[in-house]
Amino acid sequence: MTVLVTGGAGYIGSHMVWELLDAGESVVVLDRLSTGFEWAVAPEAKLVVGDVADKELVGGIIRDSHVDAIIHFAGSIVVPESVADPLAYYENNTSKTRTLIETAVREGVSHFIFSSTAAVYGGAGLEPVREDARLAPESPYGLSKLMSEWMLRDAGLAHDIRYTALRYFNVAGADPRGRTGQSTPGATHLIKVACETALGKRPFMQVFGTDYPTPDGTCMRDYIHVSDLAAAHRLALQRLRAGGQSLVANCGYSHGYSVLEVIESVRRAFGRDFEVKMGDRRPGDAAAVVANSDLARAELGWTPQRDDLDQIVADALAWERILTSKNSARG
Ligand SMILES: NC(=O)c1ccc[n+]([C@@H]2O[C@H](COP(=O)([O-])OP(=O)(O)OC[C@H]3O[C@@H](n4cnc5c(N)ncnc54)[C@H](O)[C@@H]3O)[C@@H](O)[C@H]2O)c1
Repeated sequence: MTVLVTGGAGYIGSHMVWELLDAGESVVVLDRLSTGFEWAVAPEAKLVVGDVADKELVGGIIRDSHVDAIIHFAGSIVVPESVADPLAYYENNTSKTRTLIETAVREGVSHFIFSSTAAVYGGAGLEPVREDARLAPESPYGLSKLMSEWMLRDAGLAHDIRYTALRYFNVAGADPRGRTGQSTPGATHLIKVACETALGKRPFMQVFGTDYPTPDGTCMRDYIHVSDLAAAHRLALQRLRAGGQSLVANCGYSHGYSVLEVIESVRRAFGRDFEVKMGDRRPGDAAAVVANSDLARAELGWTPQRDDLDQIVADALAWERILTSKNSARG
């Protein structure tokens, strides 16, 4: 049995590949390397460079490698880009996911795990959001993912395929062993931006809005360590293989940190100050986005191991340093 990881050369997918290999699984990665990196794929995994919508290619991989499960990370992930070019997002995230599901059904792959997102919810309040909260994506990105969830639901009703859609909150940190991490140039994730600023890769960073109805006035998010997220997928895989029914579940820690708390944590880890400018709110930012993760804990038996902001930041900062030396070695 082999697991096909799409997008396995990207940030989260590359951690998933290590998680699976560490658990003794055989892994094939399919990635077109648009934002991912060949070097990010663990050498023990087979990398196929190509597109998830290439039916012949994917069918061949499934047959040749005896794939019994697909973990589908491949996609486009930048929310403002999805607003500027919605059709590209519906193409890469929705349309190509449809084709991949079709190939999975045709080839008899009956386990499918899908990267969904907290962006499927509408503007959340300060309370942790449950899976049955109102679904009202505020961007084409969020809608492109919600439509994929719905296609999986309907395919699951009509065909022999069971799925788990995990709705991630703010994924952060890096492999604690320093094997991979977030490497996308120009990434906008707060912890990554703060680490880059601390290391002098950016002259300063900006806080967007200090008058939100939160304890310190800055936005609050639920930051989940990428290794805990990968562990949730491994448990979801086990559950599906054991006959578990399809599931949609949040992945977060059920509590949030403010932008200023994150910046303080990076200052503590770095040991020195760096420049932070206070600015106005950005359109579209909710005051707080925090998961209720009771369902994932109960259904997957998921117990996060790295629910600690300082640890997430320490791992992210360590990876940022490794990335600096990798990039300078490459010239
Ligand atoms: N990073 C987050 O905080 C976050 C939050 C919620 C959901 N997600 C979801 O998790 C998944 C992974 O995100 P990430 O942060 O690792 O992004 P990433 O950009 O690092 O990884 C995506 C990978 O998919 C590949 N890819 C894109 N389109 C492809 C295609 N058509 N065929 C083959 N490969 C393709 C890219 O080359 C890249 O390696 C995405 O689906 C994203 O929507 C991420």
